[in-house]
Amino acid sequence: MFGFDYRNPVRIAFGKGAIGNLGDLVPKDGPVLVTYGGGSVKANGVLAQVMAALIDRQVLEFGGIEPNPRYETLMRAVDLARREKVAFLLAVGGGSVLDGTKFVAAAIPFADGDPWRIVSENSPVQAAVPLGCVLTLPATGSEMNGYAVVSRDSTQEKLPFGSPLVYPVFSVLDPATSFSLPPRQVANGIVDTWVHVLEQYLTYPCAAPLQDRQAEAILLTLLEEGPKTLAEPRDYDARANLFWCATQALNGTISCGVPQDWSTHYIGHELTAFFGIDHAQSLAVVLPGVLRVRLAAKREKLVQYGRRVFGTDDPEAAIDRTEEFFRSLGVKTTLADYGIPADAADRVAARFAERGARLGEKEDMTPDQVRQALAQRVG
Ligand code: NZQ
Ligand code: ZN
Repeated sequence: MFGFDYRNPVRIAFGKGAIGNLGDLVPKDGPVLVTYGGGSVKANGVLAQVMAALIDRQVLEFGGIEPNPRYETLMRAVDLARREKVAFLLAVGGGSVLDGTKFVAAAIPFADGDPWRIVSENSPVQAAVPLGCVLTLPATGSEMNGYAVVSRDSTQEKLPFGSPLVYPVFSVLDPATSFSLPPRQVANGIVDTWVHVLEQYLTYPCAAPLQDRQAEAILLTLLEEGPKTLAEPRDYDARANLFWCATQALNGTISCGVPQDWSTHYIGHELTAFFGIDHAQSLAVVLPGVLRVRLAAKREKLVQYGRRVFGTDDPEAAIDRTEEFFRSLGVKTTLADYGIPADAADRVAARFAERGARLGEKEDMTPDQVRQALAQRVG
């Protein structure tokens, strides 16, 4: 097992009615900027609950943060927050609203030129406005980590950054807020969570049996609770379990002391940047290709995964079963399914070649292997 520094400062308020705690959770001094997306939180009444809980506060609103939040939009929130001297940010929505708000939090005090440099050049985040969230979509784990991913239209880029300064101070998780999700987003959340687990688990054995079993526990729970949630959208317990799986999958617990391989995410981000597909859709396309191209390096963990999660000793069958699970949820898994042309494999590989990026748990996955992984996924 590798050494690790486990930091987990996020306070979680979980359960029915948890939004009522906002009055105590949001700091009392200074204006609060409530951020949200395209309107789902207005339609399902979540924003009204938030406003009721903050009735005695000075509250400003910024709506319109899109899925795969855009830098261009976020900079308008930065302008508003700077002008109004906002003291606290409250993101109300899915991972995109939360990630976008993390970027805004870091961009407001950024004094080293264009805040885009935070993602494009890894410019250090020296300060950030504190933020909290009310999460309405279990998927990204953003509610309990210090990461965010931001997109820029003009350059067709989608890039991540991370800083302890953008950890949410608290996250309110009321599973009932997600009853209004369309099935596509529920399924996306299950796939995203699944792939988060695999990117921290499917590497090579490193004497971390607890982390392995914690990862497998999340996968086995998703296998049970995911289809149940889709079949019974108002099953509160199934929703609650999905929320907790998503949070646990990317809050630093299962990654403690183990190697990680975020290649499927990095490749997927390029597909979203070029072709606009949902984050989880991109992962469902990429993952089976990456696992096949990297099968030799990952064999031991793939065998363990197959045996413990799907009851098969054959790693190829484990990959097939994974893809079948995604498709059973309604998430398509080939480039053709999303109308993406076959030359995507070359375009995406060229980006990694330009950046000199080396992916994989041993940083030995080449741009040509990226091309091979996607070439298998044409459909
Ligand atoms: O914009 P609104 O109107 O709110 O609608 C959203 C959006 O259209 C809707 N939605 C959210 N909650 C709803 C709802 N509709 C009805 N009822 C509700 N309760 O769902 C749509 C998708 O929302 P979005 O926030 O984009 O989805 P998700 O939570 O999957 O977030 C995806 C983003 O997170 C990033 C992804 O790359 C992508 O940009 N990720 C962030 C990570 C992190 N910070 O750690 C890790 C992940 O791997 C991921 O990369
Ligand atoms: Zn993800």
